[in-house]
Amino acid sequence: MSIIKAFDLKEIQRGNKALEFDKTHVDSLAKARLATMSLEEKIEQLHGSKSSGDMGTEKGLYWSGENSAQEIPPFKMVDGPRGLRAGFATAFPVPMARGASFDPALEKRVGMAIGEEVAAAGGNVLLAPTINLLRHPGWGRAQETYSEDPFHMGLMGLAFVSGAQNFVLASPKHFALNNLETTRFEVNSEIDERALHEVYLPHFRRSIVDGCAASIMSAYNKVNGTYCGENSNLLERILRVDWNFEGFVESDWLLGTRSTAPSINAGMDIEMPAAYWFKREKIEESMAKGEILIETIDRNVLRVLRQKFAFGLNSQISVSKARIECEEHLSLAQEVAEKSFVLLKNEGVLPLKVTQNIALIGKLAVTENLGDRGSSMVRSTNVSTPFDGLENWNGASFTYFEDAPESEVLEGFDVAVVVAGYTYQDEGEYIPTLNKESSGDDLARGGDRSSMRLPIDQEQLIVIVSSRAKKTVVLLETGSSVNVYSWIDSIEALLVIWYPGCEGGKAIARTLFGEVNPSGRLPALFPKSDDQLGEWDINAKEVKHGLFHGYRYLDHNHERALFPFGFGLSYTEFKVKSVIINRNKRHFSIIVGLSNAGKVDGICVPQLYVSCLNSRVERPKKELKGFGRLSLRANEKLNLEFEVRDSDLCFYDRKEGWVLEDCLYRFFIGFSSDDLPFSQTWRFDGVSWTQEAQE
Ligand code: BGC
Repeated sequence: MSIIKAFDLKEIQRGNKALEFDKTHVDSLAKARLATMSLEEKIEQLHGSKSSGDMGTEKGLYWSGENSAQEIPPFKMVDGPRGLRAGFATAFPVPMARGASFDPALEKRVGMAIGEEVAAAGGNVLLAPTINLLRHPGWGRAQETYSEDPFHMGLMGLAFVSGAQNFVLASPKHFALNNLETTRFEVNSEIDERALHEVYLPHFRRSIVDGCAASIMSAYNKVNGTYCGENSNLLERILRVDWNFEGFVESDWLLGTRSTAPSINAGMDIEMPAAYWFKREKIEESMAKGEILIETIDRNVLRVLRQKFAFGLNSQISVSKARIECEEHLSLAQEVAEKSFVLLKNEGVLPLKVTQNIALIGKLAVTENLGDRGSSMVRSTNVSTPFDGLENWNGASFTYFEDAPESEVLEGFDVAVVVAGYTYQDEGEYIPTLNKESSGDDLARGGDRSSMRLPIDQEQLIVIVSSRAKKTVVLLETGSSVNVYSWIDSIEALLVIWYPGCEGGKAIARTLFGEVNPSGRLPALFPKSDDQLGEWDINAKEVKHGLFHGYRYLDHNHERALFPFGFGLSYTEFKVKSVIINRNKRHFSIIVGLSNAGKVDGICVPQLYVSCLNSRVERPKKELKGFGRLSLRANEKLNLEFEVRDSDLCFYDRKEGWVLEDCLYRFFIGFSSDDLPFSQTWRFDGVSWTQEAQE
């Protein structure tokens, strides 16, 4: 039987321009140009330049460093994570939804599509992906990121970067530990080196080391008392020395730069969106005082010029505007939505039959609910809502109600489908100048969710409908986990549809009627209670970060989630039939035989976790170290191969760096962090590996 690879790095990297250029040639071009530049011209490369027009942009793009006399093209930066944020564009499902696909190959295609739309709009730097770890699902920008798990986030972020860099420069953000929204401009994230390297940075490292991201955006917050924009531990020691990052760092926008000399010296290369701290007069004054050396200015300018030459921005081939919202991208948005929905409960109600009489209930059924209205907002020409999806479904018989109908009315329906959840008014990027209640087309203030429960009117809608209807299906629109504990027992089916993008309605109809078999899995656990997730204060000015959050935190406390990380049902059932673990020179090869034991075709998402059993340091009980997606027809069996490298098994020591300990490692295979039927233990004695006898 042939073996399918769970993850194929070469395939993900293919087409990424940053991995293809001739470094020596680019270096010499950049150095030659630098040698002809005046100080004034150099400084111009170090800050945003055009900042008028719509939202501080011109046609939605933020420019920096244009110099036609020197034939230096400008960067034209644009958001963002769920699509091109300029004019109309394809709105993809939000990244958290894409995280639920557990499908880096698909995410690469999304990165390519967004990168291509950015290029078609005249942009050349894509301000995405957002790869801040979901420390708590209440984070206002949870929807912009992929996961609570650094390994999962690492592969998804890398895939997006590689895809986007087929067309433009990508800029993973926000470096680092930006995971509280309401106080993001001032909060201090305290962390030790171990948690920093093991939990909060591995995914950034992967985007840079394997994805060769051309740039990176620093964060607003402080880390260990120093603002990220002037934090030399992050920007110099970790980025440049440890990871060999050769791209440039740009600041986050409103208050992302806090100083002149400390920022420039620490390695903040470009102040965005315009010069304030990096104004010529301020830089010259600092140079006169000896606080900034010309060598440092040259170093930073070179980082900028190198990427301009590497990506050939001067001679960039233009991409046709017709690629924006083209058929191919719209159908990709639909495919992604279909692969992102997570079925959490299904007591014999889904898929629906067209002969059934459906009551479609809730305002959100007719609302274009694409996600927050911060910097990641995308406008699409057409948005397919859940209502549109059902209306266009051949033969579907349904009636729409804004509120819960009376019992007598609901009795006439076979099933009630309630669309409930959040909108941009409940969660999103925090924009202090706006009102929480802003509505209409424009931005809203956003912020964190202080409670993981739905707004009271949404919970009531579910509870009332389920008490009156024969059967109730809830379609949940959200940017991350929800506390559904109080109403889950009253309904028959729960399908998490996130913010499903501009083609969401079509994907919903296909899933409800069984043409698509749900294959999304939770990239963040759903708790039994808010308390299970640990402390969460949306007004905190100091936040301690450690090794434990999400499933690691629950494991640590010997607790179980309501729906664990990695969980999701299907209309069929999968089984692990066999596991063979082989030790190679520097990695393990783990071949898992999987079967579809049900009657319909489906996609399974096997996962591999590793525990270190007798470590000399405290470790999470288990950590995700591999996952894959496999399409299996009814009764089909296939083999999937995971590769676990030694570097995936290390812990970080402040003095020694990454340490591969001599101890016992247990490999677990299964379908969620709480469903791991298979395990095998291996011993490392410092030199060689041996398999332990099965208990
Ligand atoms: C956000 C960034 C975004 C930038 C430009 C900032 O406020 O934090 O994520 O890229 O604005 O829109």
